[in-house]
Amino acid sequence: MGKRIDVKDLNVFYSDFKAVEGVTMTVEPRSVTAFIGPSGCGKSTFLRTLNRMHEVTPGGRVEGKVMLDDEDLYAASVDPVAVRRTVGMVFQRPNPFPTMSIRDNVIAGLRLNGVKNKKVLDQKVEESLVGANLWNEVKDRLSKPGAGLSGGQQQRLCIARAIAVEPQVLLMDEPCSALDPISTLAIEDLVTQLKEQFTIVIVTHNMQQAARVSDRTAFFNLEATGKPGNLIEMDDTQQIFNNPSKKATEDYISGRFG
Ligand SMILES: Nc1ncnc2c1ncn2[C@@H]1O[C@H](COP(=O)(O)OP(=O)(O)O)[C@@H](O)[C@H]1O
Ligand SMILES: [Mg+2]
Repeated sequence: MGKRIDVKDLNVFYSDFKAVEGVTMTVEPRSVTAFIGPSGCGKSTFLRTLNRMHEVTPGGRVEGKVMLDDEDLYAASVDPVAVRRTVGMVFQRPNPFPTMSIRDNVIAGLRLNGVKNKKVLDQKVEESLVGANLWNEVKDRLSKPGAGLSGGQQQRLCIARAIAVEPQVLLMDEPCSALDPISTLAIEDLVTQLKEQFTIVIVTHNMQQAARVSDRTAFFNLEATGKPGNLIEMDDTQQIFNNPSKKATEDYISGRFG
């Protein structure tokens, strides 16, 4: 599991507004790639093109190419729903289905896919919750509502739900920004563990987090409000934080703007 993403000359639009311009990058399989950059530079917008969620927004469209291994995600024959199953997503605010039990949250996606066998589902619940480092905390209350968990637990529940359908890639858009420091570290540990299996892309405004969890870092920036965001540089995380090749990157990581 864990596929490579190859993006070529990608432009991303909201109707006539070009939000992101000319992105070419490779995301390595079974590794963590961090996207950093000032607010509004298009990190979330670009991230959502990687599983065709961007086009769900009215006026949302792309030009260019996104390949997942050998598959062109925007080819006419490709089903966007299948893409979103293969490339899962975790959002800023934990969003478990509030009235559903913990168990039902985990298997919501499998149910949609038509899996009914109780034994299979039970096994998947345990496996996914173990995978999300949440099993020990919830194994005695699987039938209780997901909404009753703490914020950090809810986010791990959302990760369990995402990995239950066995995706190749996990996209995470600032998954810790609503969490306390302890829960944040729990998610970071989990990300490090999950990269053994999945390709992970994480947007973060927290530079220490990017430095702690990622293998590669992509820095995005925009010239001015109303202009499209660009990928300024992408490199090994150590390189970006210790010896970036572009001045804008250095200014950003040293806290001079953003
Ligand atoms: N639904 C939308 N409709 C129109 N413009 C949007 C929408 N969402 C975001 N944008 C614009 O796209 C640009 C990039 O936003 P975003 O991807 O959210 O940046 P970031 O995640 O880096 O903060 C911004 O100018 C933002 O205002
Ligand atoms: Mg964002």
